[in-house]
Amino acid sequence: MKRSDRPEAPNALPDGVVSLADHEHRARLVLGDAVWAYVNGGAADEITLRANTQAWQGIELLPRVLRPLAGGHTRVNLLGRELAHPLLVAPMAYQQLAHPHGERATALAAAALGAGLVLSTQASALLEDVARCFLPDAGRGPLWFQLYLQHDRGFTRELVQRAEAAGFEALVLTVDAPVNGVRDRERRADFRLPAGVSAVNLAGLREPGRATPTAGHSAVFDHLMAHAPTWDDIAWLRSITHLPVLLKGVTHPLDARQALTCGAAGLIVSNHGGRTLDTVPATAALLPRVVQAVAGDAPVLVDGGIRRGTDVLKAMALGASAVLVGRPVLHSLANAGAAGVAHVLRLLRDELEIAMALTGCRTLADAPGTLWPNANGS
Ligand code: FNR
Ligand code: LAC
Repeated sequence: MKRSDRPEAPNALPDGVVSLADHEHRARLVLGDAVWAYVNGGAADEITLRANTQAWQGIELLPRVLRPLAGGHTRVNLLGRELAHPLLVAPMAYQQLAHPHGERATALAAAALGAGLVLSTQASALLEDVARCFLPDAGRGPLWFQLYLQHDRGFTRELVQRAEAAGFEALVLTVDAPVNGVRDRERRADFRLPAGVSAVNLAGLREPGRATPTAGHSAVFDHLMAHAPTWDDIAWLRSITHLPVLLKGVTHPLDARQALTCGAAGLIVSNHGGRTLDTVPATAALLPRVVQAVAGDAPVLVDGGIRRGTDVLKAMALGASAVLVGRPVLHSLANAGAAGVAHVLRLLRDELEIAMALTGCRTLADAPGTLWPNANGS
């Protein structure tokens, strides 16, 4: 059944859904074709999209047995806080496409499960409302705001001030999407935002003025890139906020070092879930080099294709401080609202604990010892 045929959105878990893949299959039945193309699609030939999941699957684990594991746990430290486990919800735009409760349902579920939440600049709910759903939970994880720098820097400053006032604890500046990727799947499906779903936190932002076209008359270079952030904007951003700034979408080790020089408090290795530049390597392949370049000077997080607790363990083994989960959150939101998102986060945490127990890890500090020697290419 497609969403439009249904009297109301589901809030109870469907039977037989026991994995993130089950949630994905189920969500395909629930979401309309165009929304599906937006949520699950990637850029161009979707090579990076597929590579992300395949790369985690292709890393092998070698168990250690008979170790005493009583008292083990999944706790990690991140930016000065101890977290129950290393899972965060990735920033994803327009969550009301998946379920009318949208970002507020995601926030309730993430808070209840102790997961972190990164709210998109392009959220379809007011950032203040989402923070009110998340912050009161005693066991909650970190609440971060993902920032797309807007062409109007005054508007951007006000947005940052709103996020600070609402209780967000860090800013995540996304740097890998100054323009949209080549979204063929979306265009084939003729995806458009339906009435009633919009980037409400950007209301009032005026259209950018067009820079005078130069000889090339390029929409990308004369228009979009004329307003795109550069390294200088990191210093500007840091000057207008007291919040730590993380950069999301760093893949090159030299960019990682430059980010730290510019004062970034952390990095997220990401290829935007394969939605921006196609044929970028999988994040599992990119992560070790960035971790090596950063050399412990800041936390390095990773996202893209994390679908199993074993994937989380592998990411931690390769040096990640925490992981972000994207599309499975939207699938489960579509399937059962907040209960669905809670289910996916619980599944991942349970699977992580099982993977740790079966590989002989008492804590995630033991994770590197679980990799089959050639797993990270060394
Ligand atoms: C995203 N992503 C994203 N990233 C970001 O920084 N700001 C955003 O607004 C969005 N919006 C968005 C919408 C949708 C529908 C998707 C699927 C993704 C990228 C996201 O944060 C993350 O990098 C990837 O989704 C991670 O990959 P997986 O877990 O989806 O494979
Ligand atoms: C996307 C943008 C919103 O990936 O980041 O759809």
